[in-house]
Amino acid sequence: MNIIKATDYNDMSRKAANIISAQVILKPNSVLGLATGSSPLGLYSELVKRYKQGDLDFSQVKSVNLDEYMGLTHDNPQSYYYFMNENLFGHINIVPENTHVPDGTAANAEQACAEYEKVIQSLGGIDLQLLGLGNNGHIGFNEPGTAFEQHTHCVELTESTIQANSRFFEKLEDVPTKACTMGIKSIMMAKKILIIVNGKGKADIVHKAFFGPVTPQVPASILQMHPDVTLVADEEALSLCNL
Ligand code: GLP
Repeated sequence: MNIIKATDYNDMSRKAANIISAQVILKPNSVLGLATGSSPLGLYSELVKRYKQGDLDFSQVKSVNLDEYMGLTHDNPQSYYYFMNENLFGHINIVPENTHVPDGTAANAEQACAEYEKVIQSLGGIDLQLLGLGNNGHIGFNEPGTAFEQHTHCVELTESTIQANSRFFEKLEDVPTKACTMGIKSIMMAKKILIIVNGKGKADIVHKAFFGPVTPQVPASILQMHPDVTLVADEEALSLCNL
């Protein structure tokens, strides 16, 4: 694993943007796997800035998002579909038809997940998958205990994830309890993985995930087995790692 130490959140965002920029410049028709949450916000605004400066062209890029809440419509500001348009897609020249987010409103959720996996395959797989890290070690919405062999599937969110994500909602009761997520297997099939982590609050889980045993109890620990992973983390997140 390649570990890049950043001084703070802004530095992490710029360093991660360098990696995505290089990917898009070297392979203009890249398939990017994208993530939501607070971790990638700075990175996305950096990509928007570089696009506006004329340094990046997303016209041939295709994207697949990691996950989506079940039950939130596209116009719900808490849906990941809305998040992506608001923070990235709406500000760059990516073709809307080339962007994919799991459908959280499908009547048959299992079928929608299976179809999403086929979409990933039909695009030829993911060139670069961006990930954030959940407080409990989840990636996407693959909670502790998820089998490493899973493809895109529906999940029940754990209490700790519901609590952690409630900061984006008005009331705790508004946080959906189910989601559709790429599985660990779908993530591990990406050619390259970029994971970004910041803040003291994640120091313990960063240490467990990247320097502890590989176990389904810490889903991100499987990334130790991927041949091309880059972790970009700030000093606080890396403070318990002996680097
Ligand atoms: C959410 C998302 C993940 C994200 C993680 C961390 O539950 N499903 O994809 O990486 O939590 O979020 P944050 O970056 O806000 O800490």
